[in-house]
Amino acid sequence: MQATEYTLATEVADDWWEVEALYDLSFAPGRSALSSYRLRDDVDPILELCLTARDGDGVLAGAVRNWPVRVGEHQAVLLGPIAVHPTRQGEGLAALLMWRCIDLARSLEWERMFLVGDAPYYGRFGFKKLENVEMPPPTNPDRLLALDLVPGAWSGVSGTVERAID
Ligand SMILES: CC(C)(COP(=O)(O)OP(=O)(O)OC[C@H]1O[C@@H](n2cnc3c(N)ncnc32)[C@H](O)[C@@H]1OP(=O)(O)O)[C@@H](O)C(=O)NCCC(=O)NCCS
Repeated sequence: MQATEYTLATEVADDWWEVEALYDLSFAPGRSALSSYRLRDDVDPILELCLTARDGDGVLAGAVRNWPVRVGEHQAVLLGPIAVHPTRQGEGLAALLMWRCIDLARSLEWERMFLVGDAPYYGRFGFKKLENVEMPPPTNPDRLLALDLVPGAWSGVSGTVERAID
Protein backbone atom coordinates (compact mmCIF):
# COMPACT_ATOMS: atom_id res chain seq x y z
CA MET A 1 0.00 0.00 0.00
CA GLN A 2 1.33 3.44 -0.91
CA ALA A 3 1.90 5.83 1.98
CA THR A 4 1.89 8.87 -0.29
CA GLU A 5 -0.57 9.79 -3.02
CA TYR A 6 1.12 10.63 -6.30
CA THR A 7 -0.31 12.36 -9.33
CA LEU A 8 0.82 11.08 -12.70
CA ALA A 9 0.84 13.57 -15.57
CA THR A 10 2.19 13.85 -19.07
CA GLU A 11 5.59 15.54 -19.02
CA VAL A 12 5.53 19.11 -20.33
CA ALA A 13 8.41 21.25 -21.60
CA ASP A 14 8.88 22.96 -18.22
CA ASP A 15 9.47 19.57 -16.56
CA TRP A 16 12.47 18.71 -18.76
CA TRP A 17 15.37 19.86 -16.56
CA GLU A 18 13.73 18.68 -13.37
CA VAL A 19 13.39 15.21 -14.86
CA GLU A 20 17.00 15.37 -16.11
CA ALA A 21 18.12 16.24 -12.56
CA LEU A 22 16.19 13.26 -11.17
CA TYR A 23 17.87 10.99 -13.73
CA ASP A 24 21.31 12.43 -12.90
CA LEU A 25 20.67 11.72 -9.24
CA SER A 26 19.31 8.22 -9.82
CA PHE A 27 21.70 6.80 -12.41
CA ALA A 28 25.45 6.31 -12.37
CA PRO A 29 27.49 9.17 -13.84
CA GLY A 30 27.90 8.95 -17.60
CA ARG A 31 24.39 7.59 -18.20
CA SER A 32 24.23 9.32 -21.57
CA ALA A 33 27.17 7.21 -22.78
CA LEU A 34 24.97 4.10 -22.70
CA SER A 35 24.12 2.64 -26.09
CA SER A 36 20.40 3.14 -25.44
CA TYR A 37 21.03 6.90 -25.54
CA ARG A 38 22.38 6.64 -29.11
CA LEU A 39 18.93 5.37 -30.08
CA ARG A 40 17.45 8.56 -28.61
CA ASP A 41 19.84 11.03 -30.26
CA ASP A 42 17.91 13.54 -32.41
CA VAL A 43 14.68 11.55 -31.99
CA ASP A 44 11.71 13.02 -30.15
CA PRO A 45 10.34 10.90 -27.31
CA ILE A 46 6.78 9.61 -27.50
CA LEU A 47 5.25 12.56 -25.67
CA GLU A 48 2.15 10.69 -24.47
CA LEU A 49 4.43 8.10 -22.85
CA CYS A 50 6.60 10.57 -20.93
CA LEU A 51 5.18 10.82 -17.44
CA THR A 52 5.96 12.58 -14.21
CA ALA A 53 4.81 11.56 -10.73
CA ARG A 54 4.49 14.37 -8.19
CA ASP A 55 3.48 14.27 -4.56
CA GLY A 56 0.77 16.46 -3.03
CA ASP A 57 3.25 19.35 -2.72
CA GLY A 58 4.15 19.12 -6.39
CA VAL A 59 7.59 17.65 -5.70
CA LEU A 60 8.85 15.39 -8.49
CA ALA A 61 9.17 11.85 -7.13
CA GLY A 62 9.46 9.76 -10.29
CA ALA A 63 9.55 9.95 -14.06
CA VAL A 64 9.62 7.82 -17.15
CA ARG A 65 10.27 8.55 -20.80
CA ASN A 66 9.80 6.34 -23.85
CA TRP A 67 11.26 6.53 -27.35
CA PRO A 68 10.27 5.02 -30.68
CA VAL A 69 12.84 2.69 -32.27
CA ARG A 70 12.97 0.30 -35.21
CA VAL A 71 13.97 -3.32 -35.59
CA GLY A 72 14.04 -3.93 -39.31
CA GLU A 73 10.60 -2.92 -40.57
CA HIS A 74 9.05 -3.17 -37.15
CA GLN A 75 8.42 -0.28 -34.78
CA ALA A 76 8.84 -0.68 -31.05
CA VAL A 77 8.74 1.39 -27.89
CA LEU A 78 12.03 1.64 -25.98
CA LEU A 79 10.90 2.10 -22.37
CA GLY A 80 13.08 4.28 -20.19
CA PRO A 81 14.75 5.96 -18.58
CA ILE A 82 12.60 5.33 -15.51
CA ALA A 83 13.65 6.57 -12.11
CA VAL A 84 12.19 7.14 -8.68
CA HIS A 85 13.82 9.52 -6.22
CA PRO A 86 15.93 7.58 -3.69
CA THR A 87 13.75 8.78 -0.81
CA ARG A 88 10.59 7.51 -2.56
CA GLN A 89 11.76 4.06 -3.62
CA GLY A 90 9.97 0.89 -2.51
CA GLU A 91 6.53 2.50 -2.42
CA GLY A 92 5.38 1.02 -5.70
CA LEU A 93 5.82 4.24 -7.63
CA ALA A 94 7.88 2.73 -10.46
CA ALA A 95 5.24 0.02 -10.77
CA LEU A 96 2.56 2.71 -11.08
CA LEU A 97 4.56 4.42 -13.84
CA MET A 98 5.27 1.11 -15.58
CA TRP A 99 1.64 -0.01 -15.65
CA ARG A 100 0.50 3.42 -16.84
CA CYS A 101 3.07 3.33 -19.68
CA ILE A 102 2.04 -0.15 -20.71
CA ASP A 103 -1.67 0.72 -20.70
CA LEU A 104 -1.11 3.98 -22.58
CA ALA A 105 1.15 2.33 -25.17
CA ARG A 106 -1.55 -0.28 -25.81
CA SER A 107 -4.24 2.36 -26.12
CA LEU A 108 -2.04 4.23 -28.61
CA GLU A 109 -1.85 0.96 -30.60
CA TRP A 110 1.85 0.32 -30.15
CA GLU A 111 2.40 -3.40 -30.56
CA ARG A 112 5.71 -4.09 -28.87
CA MET A 113 7.83 -2.64 -26.10
CA PHE A 114 11.27 -3.42 -24.73
CA LEU A 115 13.84 -2.09 -22.29
CA VAL A 116 17.34 -2.68 -21.00
CA GLY A 117 17.09 -3.67 -17.36
CA ASP A 118 17.02 -6.31 -14.65
CA ALA A 119 14.77 -9.30 -15.40
CA PRO A 120 13.99 -9.91 -11.69
CA TYR A 121 12.30 -6.51 -11.53
CA TYR A 122 10.72 -6.14 -14.98
CA GLY A 123 9.50 -9.74 -15.10
CA ARG A 124 6.61 -8.71 -12.84
CA PHE A 125 5.25 -6.57 -15.68
CA GLY A 126 5.50 -9.44 -18.15
CA PHE A 127 8.87 -8.54 -19.72
CA LYS A 128 10.90 -11.53 -20.90
CA LYS A 129 14.36 -11.94 -22.40
CA LEU A 130 14.31 -10.75 -25.99
CA GLU A 131 15.83 -13.28 -28.36
CA ASN A 132 17.22 -12.61 -31.84
CA VAL A 133 17.32 -8.85 -31.35
CA GLU A 134 20.51 -6.95 -30.64
CA MET A 135 21.21 -3.55 -29.20
CA PRO A 136 24.14 -1.51 -30.43
CA PRO A 137 27.11 -2.64 -28.27
CA PRO A 138 28.00 -2.69 -25.47
CA THR A 139 24.74 -4.07 -24.05
CA ASN A 140 24.45 -7.25 -22.03
CA PRO A 141 21.96 -9.33 -24.07
CA ASP A 142 20.50 -10.79 -20.88
CA ARG A 143 19.23 -7.32 -19.98
CA LEU A 144 17.28 -6.91 -23.19
CA LEU A 145 13.68 -7.53 -22.14
CA ALA A 146 10.54 -7.45 -24.25
CA LEU A 147 6.80 -7.20 -23.79
CA ASP A 148 4.13 -8.06 -26.34
CA LEU A 149 1.48 -5.34 -26.24
CA VAL A 150 -0.56 -7.49 -28.60
CA PRO A 151 -0.16 -11.26 -28.61
CA GLY A 152 2.86 -12.50 -30.58
CA ALA A 153 4.08 -9.03 -31.50
CA TRP A 154 7.77 -9.89 -31.01
CA SER A 155 7.44 -13.24 -32.73
CA GLY A 156 9.61 -13.33 -35.86
CA VAL A 157 11.17 -9.93 -35.14
CA SER A 158 14.95 -10.08 -35.44
CA GLY A 159 17.89 -7.81 -36.12
CA THR A 160 19.53 -4.78 -34.62
CA VAL A 161 17.64 -2.04 -32.84
CA GLU A 162 17.98 1.22 -34.75
CA ARG A 163 16.96 4.82 -34.33
CA ALA A 164 13.46 5.60 -35.54
CA ILE A 165 14.78 8.04 -38.08
CA ASP A 166 15.62 7.77 -41.78
C1 LIG B 1 14.42 0.76 -10.33
C2 LIG B 1 13.53 1.83 -9.69
C3 LIG B 1 12.92 2.71 -10.78
C4 LIG B 1 12.41 1.14 -8.89
O1 LIG B 1 11.59 2.14 -8.31
P1 LIG B 1 10.62 1.85 -7.06
O2 LIG B 1 9.54 2.87 -7.06
O3 LIG B 1 11.42 1.68 -5.84
O4 LIG B 1 10.04 0.42 -7.48
P2 LIG B 1 8.77 -0.33 -6.88
O5 LIG B 1 8.41 0.32 -5.57
O6 LIG B 1 7.77 -0.46 -7.93
O7 LIG B 1 9.35 -1.78 -6.61
C5 LIG B 1 10.24 -1.97 -5.55
C6 LIG B 1 10.63 -3.45 -5.53
O8 LIG B 1 11.43 -3.72 -6.68
C7 LIG B 1 12.68 -4.25 -6.27
N1 LIG B 1 13.70 -3.78 -7.21
C8 LIG B 1 14.03 -2.49 -7.50
N2 LIG B 1 15.03 -2.47 -8.40
C9 LIG B 1 15.31 -3.77 -8.67
C10 LIG B 1 16.25 -4.39 -9.52
N3 LIG B 1 17.09 -3.67 -10.26
N4 LIG B 1 16.26 -5.74 -9.56
C11 LIG B 1 15.42 -6.48 -8.82
N5 LIG B 1 14.50 -5.94 -7.99
C12 LIG B 1 14.45 -4.60 -7.92
C13 LIG B 1 12.88 -3.68 -4.88
O9 LIG B 1 13.79 -4.48 -4.16
C14 LIG B 1 11.47 -3.78 -4.33
O10 LIG B 1 11.20 -5.11 -3.98
P3 LIG B 1 9.98 -5.52 -3.01
O11 LIG B 1 8.70 -5.14 -3.71
O12 LIG B 1 10.12 -6.98 -2.86
O13 LIG B 1 10.22 -4.73 -1.76
C15 LIG B 1 14.34 2.71 -8.69
O14 LIG B 1 14.99 1.86 -7.78
C16 LIG B 1 15.35 3.63 -9.35
O15 LIG B 1 15.01 4.75 -9.74
N6 LIG B 1 16.61 3.17 -9.46
C17 LIG B 1 17.65 3.98 -10.04
C18 LIG B 1 17.46 4.16 -11.53
C19 LIG B 1 17.34 2.83 -12.24
O16 LIG B 1 18.12 1.91 -12.02
N7 LIG B 1 16.32 2.76 -13.13
C20 LIG B 1 16.04 1.55 -13.88
C21 LIG B 1 16.95 1.42 -15.04
S1 LIG B 1 16.67 -0.08 -15.90
